[in-house]
Amino acid sequence: MKQAGKFITFEGIDGAGKSTHIAYVTELIRQRGIQVVNTREPGGTPLGEKLRDLALNEKMHLETEALLMFAARRENLAQVIAPALERGDWVISDRFTDSSFAYQGGGRKLALEKLDTLEQWVHPQLQPDLTLLFDVPLEVARERLDATRVQDKFEQEKTDFFAAARAEYLRRAREFPARFEVIDSTRAIPEIRQLLDGLLARLWPA
Ligand code: ADP
Ligand code: TYD
Repeated sequence: MKQAGKFITFEGIDGAGKSTHIAYVTELIRQRGIQVVNTREPGGTPLGEKLRDLALNEKMHLETEALLMFAARRENLAQVIAPALERGDWVISDRFTDSSFAYQGGGRKLALEKLDTLEQWVHPQLQPDLTLLFDVPLEVARERLDATRVQDKFEQEKTDFFAAARAEYLRRAREFPARFEVIDSTRAIPEIRQLLDGLLARLWPA
């Protein structure tokens, strides 16, 4: 794949504040005259959305769950992400492979080597140019969630699950410091926007 555009992923435990900032970052990029494609995982394609519905609502073996996440991802890469990056568009994805490490690896305790294997299979060459990790204590995320919506299978998980998912996210942020930016998402929304302005500025073409 010949990548001309930039690939930005949003990560964090449920309720951390990812969705709140996606529209803002999308607009920042558009203002530069760059085309942006928004996608989400699991999902992003008609087939991916069907797989999402299964993965988020049905009980299943943890390996089945991991395989469905990567199956949806394979389709999203083929149909949406790779073609957009090749055209020179920028792509913003609400979650990507770091979510599989955090939730299936950290949360469900699937061996990380298995996830490494799936990652090598599904996107051996591609990594995000920038991963924005929205980090908050579990209590804050939980409070924000309860206020807003009907909970899916993951959102009904217990504190231990999210503690492990958050820890795995932070471990990956330390492992891949070049692409990760950890954002303290307890800060006020305008402050986070200011921070995002600075982080995005590093990616602008010369
Ligand atoms: P996620 O997409 O990570 O699950 P959301 O962006 O949907 O999280 O945020 C969950 C809730 O928390 C929303 O109601 C949102 O308005 C609120 N929220 C997000 N960021 C902040 C913040 N920095 N301060 C206060 N409330 C926030
Ligand atoms: P999300 O899109 O954040 O849902 P919502 O918009 O309702 O907040 O997340 C979908 C759920 O899927 C979330 O709980 C995390 C989970 N997930 C995984 O477990 N593994 C993965 O690889 C991905 C991409 C998501």
